[in-house]
Amino acid sequence: MSRSVTVSRDNEIAVVTIDNPPVNALSHHVREPLYAALTELAADDTVRGIVLACAGRTFVAGADITEFGKPMQKPDLNGIVALLETIAKPTAAAIHGTALGGGLELALGCHFRIADRTARLGLPEVKLGLLPGGGGTVRLPRLVGPAKALRMIVTGTPVPAAEALADGLVDAIAEGDLTGSAVAFLRGKLAEGVRPIPVRERNDKLGEDPAAFERAAADLARKARGLEAPLACAESVRNAVSLPFDQALAAEHALFRKLVAGDQSKAQRHLFFAEREAAKVVGIGKDVKAGDVARVGIIGAGTMGGGIAMAFANAGIPVTLLETDDAALARGTGMIGKNYAASVARGSLDEATAARRLALISGTTDYAALADADLIVEAAFEDMAVKRDIFARLDQVAKAGAVLATNTSYLDVNAIAAASARPEAVLGMHFFSPANVMKLLEIVRAEKTSPEALATALSVAKRIGKIPVVVGVCHGFVGNRMLTARSSENEALLMEGALPAEIDRAFTDFGWPMGPFQMYDLAGLDIGWRNRKARGETAALADALCEAGRFGQKTGKGWYAYADGGRTPTPDPDVEALIGREAAARGIARRTISAEEIIERTHLPLVNEGARILEEGIAQRASDIDIVWVNGYGFPVGKGGPMFWAGLEGWQKVRERLAYWHERTGRDAFRPSPWLSGRE
Ligand code: 3HC
Repeated sequence: MSRSVTVSRDNEIAVVTIDNPPVNALSHHVREPLYAALTELAADDTVRGIVLACAGRTFVAGADITEFGKPMQKPDLNGIVALLETIAKPTAAAIHGTALGGGLELALGCHFRIADRTARLGLPEVKLGLLPGGGGTVRLPRLVGPAKALRMIVTGTPVPAAEALADGLVDAIAEGDLTGSAVAFLRGKLAEGVRPIPVRERNDKLGEDPAAFERAAADLARKARGLEAPLACAESVRNAVSLPFDQALAAEHALFRKLVAGDQSKAQRHLFFAEREAAKVVGIGKDVKAGDVARVGIIGAGTMGGGIAMAFANAGIPVTLLETDDAALARGTGMIGKNYAASVARGSLDEATAARRLALISGTTDYAALADADLIVEAAFEDMAVKRDIFARLDQVAKAGAVLATNTSYLDVNAIAAASARPEAVLGMHFFSPANVMKLLEIVRAEKTSPEALATALSVAKRIGKIPVVVGVCHGFVGNRMLTARSSENEALLMEGALPAEIDRAFTDFGWPMGPFQMYDLAGLDIGWRNRKARGETAALADALCEAGRFGQKTGKGWYAYADGGRTPTPDPDVEALIGREAAARGIARRTISAEEIIERTHLPLVNEGARILEEGIAQRASDIDIVWVNGYGFPVGKGGPMFWAGLEGWQKVRERLAYWHERTGRDAFRPSPWLSGRE
């Protein structure tokens, strides 16, 4: 016996307990003693049944992801599951917490699964660019049918115990003591005296609704957007239906080996760990305690303020929303009400939950109502004087220890903090729009921000389901600063010969959900235009479009034309003519520009600006930048974020291509950052 796997006895039933904190991953030091224990128990005549359980907070949450990419040490998961299936005595997995990936596959090796009421079961491998490689794609369809299995495997979303019971994935839900219930369940089966049937032999559900399966598979293929794993998942579930068990299992194996060695899975595994790393702040140890946030105040009930209010209310945190007058407040709360009603109408939220969330948001025009807030988020007009005024006023009302956050997208948080008599309480919480949906939250650490305020912001961010990334103060922080570095190159490419649709196509082929020009049209071109004017900047083509009243989808015309108020972009000859005129006026001879050049010239400035951000210490680590771009801007997950992508391309190549474009264009965006030198 090892510390990771122990065996105890409840008379004739053996209980094997895995204990590998924090999530009982199936590391080699678990697999080896588990295999040995099962071998021994299989041969022990005094044992009549085996329960497989876990210590700690969860059942096995998967294979050990840190072992991927290294030679697999035997016994592997498939070996353990195969061994389980040869055991003639009844076996049951006792599942609490999350049975995920290899964890669920291990449970599928048992004859029965008994789950705690709060347990969740799923195969999330697709999120790591993989397919379940421990037999999940061939066993799950045998219990829940191919169409349901496909949905679970391709979305990777775990199902709650009650749903798993209804689908036949679990056999019973335990009330109270889980292990005790599993032992009692096995005794019941022994009393019935029926031979337990391994999952591999259960074929009756495999023929269920083939048409539904094919419809779902076709739909998924359309949505895969260049990712290989969802397609491999579908192929493998199809194999489970059409091939004999062992052949389907071998095919799953081959697909897994191919995916695990590929760049997409490497990128997605990088993102898994990067996301967890991003929440760790250099210089803040475990001794720094996050404050409790029981109530939040929000200043400004516009689009951002309203979305932020919903983000907190959705997590059950009461919100006081402040506006300057009753009319603005009514507009803001009205919009929140409409948003919840739309979710109910769409069926994504039930009426009672929507009403409960809405009731958590109360409105006020009186600053004194913010006195009991533990966190106050300012989401007022993006203007330094307005924000400084608000932070000075907050000194009068905010309670001692309250965290004071600004939702500015660009402004200097140090200057905002300087307006407060308690700058140590001030930081930035830069939400992305729509704030109730978008996962990313840039937490801006100003010069005087205290570790406690930062820890509180990080902890509440996780509570409301955000992915927080700590950044330093600079114009646009990490995300918007890098976006700016890229956008000037878009315009240059147009002038030199590319068309909006060609650039957008290069982006979607790269894996982006949409290209920059479609994005501009969706967001509205007038916002950038106003910002440029305020800063005394110009963008010849975008400015000309705005001067012609082409603000994007909302005016039916922007970089594209939109017929009859629709959302489908159609290339517009007027825009092509405009680009031609502006280029001719500058004496630029337009030429054909390849997709490769488009990607280089728009993505290298991102990497270079990211490098400068690291050089200045604005981001803590390169992987934080990847998290910002994947979660806030739609950078393709299969490329792992701009900095990981640069590593895949090769740093040497990145340096050379930047130097090449710097020489050709003279633009600062391509002047290689010193941070890049020497990276291999
Ligand atoms: N392997 C290695 N480490 C893991 C891990 C895994 N499968 N799952 C979690 N961890 C680590 C995390 O990196 C983190 O480490 P850190 O503390 O050093 O940062 C620690 O465990 C705790 O994880 P979380 O912070 O994510 O804890 P939560 O409580 O928030 O979430 C969880 C728990 C829901 C289990 C979440 O960790 C999770 O989703 N894990 C991954 C599940 C998964 O993808 N399983 C499939 C793996 S692939 C597989 O099984 C292949 C098979 O088919 C062959």
